[in-house]
Amino acid sequence: MINIYSDIEINKIKKAGHVNKLCHDYLASLIKPGISTKYLDDEAGKFIESHGGIPASKGYEGYPCNICISLNEEIVHGIGKDDVILKEGDIITFDIMTKLDGYIADSATTWPVGKVNKEKEHLMYHTKRALEVALKEIKARAPIGNYSARVQQYAEKHGLSVPHEIGGHGVGKDVHEDPFIPNYGKYGEGMILKSGMVIALEPMLVTGNRHVDILDDDWTIVTKDGSPSAHFEHTVVVRDDGYEILTGE
Ligand code: MF3
Ligand code: CO
Repeated sequence: MINIYSDIEINKIKKAGHVNKLCHDYLASLIKPGISTKYLDDEAGKFIESHGGIPASKGYEGYPCNICISLNEEIVHGIGKDDVILKEGDIITFDIMTKLDGYIADSATTWPVGKVNKEKEHLMYHTKRALEVALKEIKARAPIGNYSARVQQYAEKHGLSVPHEIGGHGVGKDVHEDPFIPNYGKYGEGMILKSGMVIALEPMLVTGNRHVDILDDDWTIVTKDGSPSAHFEHTVVVRDDGYEILTGE
C-alpha cells in the first residue's frame, strides 16, 4: 500500500530526519583508521536514543544492528563488527533509519577513511551527484521512471553501474513501504507520483559490473566482482511543484 501523509505526519518524519542528519554528522566526525565498525554502530544507537529516537533498522526482519554500515565492496545492509577495523583508503557507508514519535526517516551517506584512491573519489562524488540530479524529476504527476532513468543515465555517463536488485522505497510508518523505486528504468514509465507520498531515494552505484551477491550473514549485499560501491539517500515528500528533503538538516 502507498501511504499519503498529512502535514502533521510529514513534520514528524522531518523531526526524525533531523536526528538522522545529526547522527550522520556525528558518525562522520568519528571516522579514523583503527576503529571498529561495531564501535560506530554502538555510537549510532546511543546518539539516536539520546535524541529521543529509536534506531528503526534494529530488529527489522531480524536485522541485528542499530544502523547499516557497509565498507568498500559492500553495497548495503552491512553489519558492524568488532573485528572489522577501518583503514586508510576504505570508503564507509552509514545507512540510518531513525524513528521518532512513531515516524521513520531513512538516509545514507558514504565517506572516505583518510585518503582514498581516484576510483573511489570518482564513485562517491558521482553517486552523490546522481541523487541531486535525479531529484529534479520528483514532483506530483510525474512517473517515477523519470527519476529512475535519470539515475541510470547519469551513472552510465560517468562509467558507473546500477545494481537492479536494490532501490528506494516508500517510508514513514514502516521501514519499507510501497512503491519500490529502481535506480534504473525508462522515462515516462512507472507509477505516477502524488503529492504527500514520502519516499526514500537511494542511488547505490558501483564501479564494476552491476551484479551482486549476498554474504553468509544473509544481510550484507556485496558486488560480485569486488568493485567498490557508494550510496547516498534522502527521504523526501512529493509536492505539487517538486519535493522537500526531510533528512537534509
Ligand atoms: N535503510 C535500509 C534500506 O532502505 C534498511 C535498513 S533495515 C534492514 O534498505 F534491516 F534492512 F537493514
Ligand atoms: Co532506504
